[in-house]
Amino acid sequence: MSSANVQTSSYNKFYILFQIIGLTLIFYVYQWIVQYRGGFSFTEPKKIFNWHSILMTIAFVYLFANAILHYRTFQNNTKRKLKNQHAIIHGCILILIVFAGFAVFISHQYADPPIPHLYSLHSWLGVITVVMFLAQLFSGLYCFLYPGVAARHRETLAPYHVFFGISNFVLAVATVVLGFCEKIIFSLENQYKKLPAEGQLANILGVLCVFYCTLVVYMVTKPEFKRRPNPEFESLLK
Ligand code: HEM
Ligand code: HEM
Repeated sequence: MSSANVQTSSYNKFYILFQIIGLTLIFYVYQWIVQYRGGFSFTEPKKIFNWHSILMTIAFVYLFANAILHYRTFQNNTKRKLKNQHAIIHGCILILIVFAGFAVFISHQYADPPIPHLYSLHSWLGVITVVMFLAQLFSGLYCFLYPGVAARHRETLAPYHVFFGISNFVLAVATVVLGFCEKIIFSLENQYKKLPAEGQLANILGVLCVFYCTLVVYMVTKPEFKRRPNPEFESLLK
């Protein structure tokens, strides 16, 4: 087997693990909400809040990870296609976080009595995560899709784009973990100390997020997994 094939098969093993953990995480956040937190609603503030947890987990953990690994996962696609798909996934993330943000805002506003906004460390880090995400998104669209930007400028900007993209993902996961922690403490109050099943589930979800984040950072920074365009294929397309 050639060294490129060995790298691909090794990447694929990590990728399978990555998908299993990501989907398990979403499934158990859903289970948490449905079994212990009353499910979802569009009218009751407590249940409107639950959209925040699930949509943020899907968008800022699972989809975000898939978007940043996209170049490595679909190596044989052309760079143009990958760029468009990378940008489209980020566009979908944006739509979900708008709904998730709206859900938490409404649930605070219409709670009885209303809950103040932006008082917690989680919410501050959440705002920084979203602002950083928007900066990455718009700078990415401008630098890499707008035809007026010269190739040499793109090459200069790419390492910064990658560095801040990965940092943004790590920050998003930290924010999500704080969110789980906050929600479980608010929900169980004194019972949390007794480590009931719900507390164990929330703790496991946090550990899973940290493991997932480590795996993604490993996969997206390992030089051997970096996309190597097939020169023959690329020249046929020119
Ligand atoms: C990266 C993803 C996330 C971001 C950017 C984020 C952002 C925010 C923001 C900005 C607020 C404040 C809303 C307001 O003051 O009206 C908030 C509140 C809250 N979030 Fe998140 N969140 C994220 C994920 C999660 C997750 C997964 C949970 C898990 C249950 C969660 C739990 C909470 C809780 C309990 C509150 C209400 C208390 C508070 O204001 O801190 N968040 N979030
Ligand atoms: C919040 C939004 C974004 C984040 C967090 C992000 C993050 C990343 C990361 C982590 C990589 C490294 C992938 C790898 O090495 O395999 C990457 C690569 C790349 N992204 Fe983004 N990205 C975002 C939006 C965009 C947008 C809108 C575009 C425009 C099309 C774009 C264009 C690119 C390109 C061209 C590369 C490859 C750079 C290279 O040649 O090394 N990104 N991005």
